[in-house]
Amino acid sequence: MKKRYLVTAALPYANGPLHIGHLAGAYLPADIYVRYLRLMGKDVVFVCGSDEHGAAITVRARKEGVTPREIVDKYHTMIRDTFQKIGIDFDIYHRTSEPLHHATSQDFFRKLLENGQFEEKESDQYYDETANQFLADRYIIGTCPVCSNPDAYGDQCEKCGSTLSPTQLINPRSTLSGSAPVMKPTTHWYLKLDEHENWLREWINTGRADGIQLHDPAEWKNHVVGQCNSWLDQGLQPRAMTRDLDWGVDVPHEIPHSAGKKLYVWLDAPIGYISATKQWALDRGVDWEPYWKSDDTALIHFIGKDNIVFHCLIFPAILKAHGDFILPVNVPANQFLNLEGNKLSTSRNWAVWVHEYVAELPGREDELRYNMIKNMPEQRDSEFTWKGFQESTNAELVGNLAGFVHRVLVLTHKNYTGVVPAIDISREFKSGWDADQVSTFDQELLRLHLKLEEMGREIEHFNFREALRILMEISSAGNALLQFNEPWKIAGDDPELVKVVLNLGLQYVAALSAALRPFLPFAADRIRGLLNLPALTDDRELLDTLNELAEGNPILQPNHALNAAEHLFTRVPDEVIAAQIQKLKSAEQANQQTAPAEPTEEKMTYAPVKESIEFDDFAQLDIRTGTILEASKIEKADKLLKLTVDLGFEQRTIVSGIAQHFLPEAIIGRQVIVLANLAPRTMRGIESQGMILMAEDAEGKLSFVSPEAGWPNGWGVK
Ligand code: 2FM
Ligand code: ZN
Repeated sequence: MKKRYLVTAALPYANGPLHIGHLAGAYLPADIYVRYLRLMGKDVVFVCGSDEHGAAITVRARKEGVTPREIVDKYHTMIRDTFQKIGIDFDIYHRTSEPLHHATSQDFFRKLLENGQFEEKESDQYYDETANQFLADRYIIGTCPVCSNPDAYGDQCEKCGSTLSPTQLINPRSTLSGSAPVMKPTTHWYLKLDEHENWLREWINTGRADGIQLHDPAEWKNHVVGQCNSWLDQGLQPRAMTRDLDWGVDVPHEIPHSAGKKLYVWLDAPIGYISATKQWALDRGVDWEPYWKSDDTALIHFIGKDNIVFHCLIFPAILKAHGDFILPVNVPANQFLNLEGNKLSTSRNWAVWVHEYVAELPGREDELRYNMIKNMPEQRDSEFTWKGFQESTNAELVGNLAGFVHRVLVLTHKNYTGVVPAIDISREFKSGWDADQVSTFDQELLRLHLKLEEMGREIEHFNFREALRILMEISSAGNALLQFNEPWKIAGDDPELVKVVLNLGLQYVAALSAALRPFLPFAADRIRGLLNLPALTDDRELLDTLNELAEGNPILQPNHALNAAEHLFTRVPDEVIAAQIQKLKSAEQANQQTAPAEPTEEKMTYAPVKESIEFDDFAQLDIRTGTILEASKIEKADKLLKLTVDLGFEQRTIVSGIAQHFLPEAIIGRQVIVLANLAPRTMRGIESQGMILMAEDAEGKLSFVSPEAGWPNGWGVK
């Protein structure tokens, strides 16, 4: 058990507003985890801030015709306020443009240099002779070597998701001037990542570094370990930690050849977690160092899957290269959230923007949080739909949770003038967990205790969907308690029964007020108000609740006076959903007007349909849903990738002929359809235990056939 926790959430680029994908990816899970730890009395610091350097900022500044400083000031404020409105409660929301951060990252650079971690190397890089500057990867576009997208960036193709380097692009051109860039020599400092490969491999796969067990690798998500191994299998190369740019953290001036050089944004950004912690500590007059340097601290990074390599390999290498810092005990990265069947996309405006949501649906912050948690892409990509949002709000929040709280309060007001009734604890009644079971007050408090503990364990293992489901089960059991015992019918005949049922119902509500807080902080506060309990401060309240329940003690004492009953949530009407769907459609139409025309019908050629088969022939195929956990190239086989695929009931090794269409690291976490009963075949010495189904166009281009986002693994396809 660690003494203290340092929780980080990925620093968002201050180059645009937040959308729901950001929330579901990193910030909501981090917020739930941190609130839970605090409610359990733990020492925890939760840091975040704006990532204000790198091409993400300068590209945006060019687009808006303003300076980078204006961009970061505008979006930093906007993002910070949005987090606050949606109830993401950081201890500090810092900025990487702060002098403290510049000094901290420069000190890091000096220390790495002093420790011999860099090699200074001259290499040829793209230079724009019209704009007279070296080109950051984002400033170069060209044709993607993987999917032929003509507008792929020098670091990534947004169409197929491949990670690229500028020299891989076909027909590169500069976005600054449109001209073809030339190669020109420049000197940079390269981190010798290759020298870190061995210990990183051991640390990722066994949790050990320098012979010390630092974490349990079984606690890490499969897709995180899988992605790391895919990178490691390709071999780590020295990576430039500086750039020729005019916006960013200067390479310390006393270092020879530093003129015009800035730190690489992926060196300075994660150090932003450290400078944020320093600022937090300064503001409070406490010491920051134990949070980063003591083995007693659990460091946990919450991120989206596109940041895995930086947080699981590159930043740990930097921390180790420095020498004084601890490594993360977990990096529970989430996969991606899709929106109404399509990838979220900032450039296509296919998004639900959080600042717009809070402005257009004020007071419904928890409804969005609830739906996001329920559909959180914890193990695989998932999906947000407005219909789903409406259904989960109306059925689960209004129908189940708010209905339960309201009914208990209304009945207590009706029967006992809003005061918690004193009870005979030996009185038996029907359990809300099972209509056939007769139970007593303290037995049910113990059961509640077990459920809350179960919920806590799920949170501790980053299974937030499951934790929320357990909480809602408590509310369902509360409703069933009322339903089975019908206190509204029997007040005259059996007043003792009514008292014990309502008193127990109120204990459920009180326990829920603390346990809901990590998930639905605003509703939790409202429940505290209804119960006339002190406002939650995220300070041990869940621990105190658990301790009382474990002893069979109630949370609310007899004669405690409640406030008037109110509805916690209201239904989302059809018009609200229709308006939001319309808004998305308009965005789509606006895009279609600017998007290139689809290929025309006559240009397509189709392969002739194969001979008919009987249904029984088809029925012999065992086709299943699955998720790619690991992917790596196979030596001397240009076309093949070795995949590990999770079929739910087991994992399979599959050799797939897709290497010329997809980069291994881009397909980890991808959901696929697998022919599961194809006889095993050995290719290049590897036994392939199945086949991934792919769609192929007339030019032979391959595309995955995928189940809907969030579909479980191992299910049959018919
Ligand atoms: O992907 C991003 O949005 C980056 N700005 C995340 C940085 S996380 C950390 F390293 F600062
Ligand atoms: Zn591509």
